[in-house]
Amino acid sequence: MFLHSQRLLLRNFTASDLEAFLACRNDPLVAKYQGWSLPYPRETGEAFITEMQDIHAPKQGQWLQLALELKETGTLVGDVAFCIKDDDVRQAVIGFTVASAYWQNGLATEALTALLDYLFEDIDLHRVMADCDTDNTGSWKTLEKLGFRREAHFVESLLIGSEYTSEYHYGLLQREWRARAAFRNC
Ligand SMILES: CC(C)(COP(=O)(O)OP(=O)(O)OC[C@H]1O[C@@H](n2cnc3c(N)ncnc32)[C@H](O)[C@@H]1OP(=O)(O)O)[C@@H](O)C(=O)NCCC(=O)NCCS
Repeated sequence: MFLHSQRLLLRNFTASDLEAFLACRNDPLVAKYQGWSLPYPRETGEAFITEMQDIHAPKQGQWLQLALELKETGTLVGDVAFCIKDDDVRQAVIGFTVASAYWQNGLATEALTALLDYLFEDIDLHRVMADCDTDNTGSWKTLEKLGFRREAHFVESLLIGSEYTSEYHYGLLQREWRARAAFRNC
């Protein structure tokens, strides 16, 4: 898999990404609203990269995670992911992470724009979904900036550690993405 945007390559992980990937996963700022607990083990990172480096095409029910590499420096600055639903080949869920040193520079928006172009235009998805902790302002602002619609607010619905957190669920349709793209291009 290989996509690109103005500043980023979206590509398969390789073994040389391990240290930067572990540093990002072990950053408490990055992990705060995510499903993994700290410390994120080295062996888990190694297994993750081994699995991801060999996936070259999407498969229903399987997460495909792409590394975000800054073109200018070759630095790993995060990842984006998607999973096509098991029971519907035209719907997917996405996830995204940017290393905290690079936050609020438009990188998540840029990477997700490239990913959404791929999902809606290259593989013809009908609908893309995402969810996040209601306190994760950076996440829901990014989704709303891209045109995602807040479709649900689940209250104390997800057990993280010993606490129930609340979630927003978002959705975006292919025709909505195309309407925004037409607007962007005129
Ligand atoms: C969520 C995340 C990917 C955003 O990455 P980013 O590269 O900083 O996002 P962008 O720079 O493209 O910002 C997109 C919009 O969100 C806003 N935003 C981003 N982080 C924000 C924050 N912490 N607080 C308030 N607004 C924020 C930006 O200002 C921008 O809106 P604007 O253009 O109207 O000003 C990043 O904070 C992150 O990786 N967090 C940890 C992992 C995570 O929670 N991932 C999401 C899981 S659901």
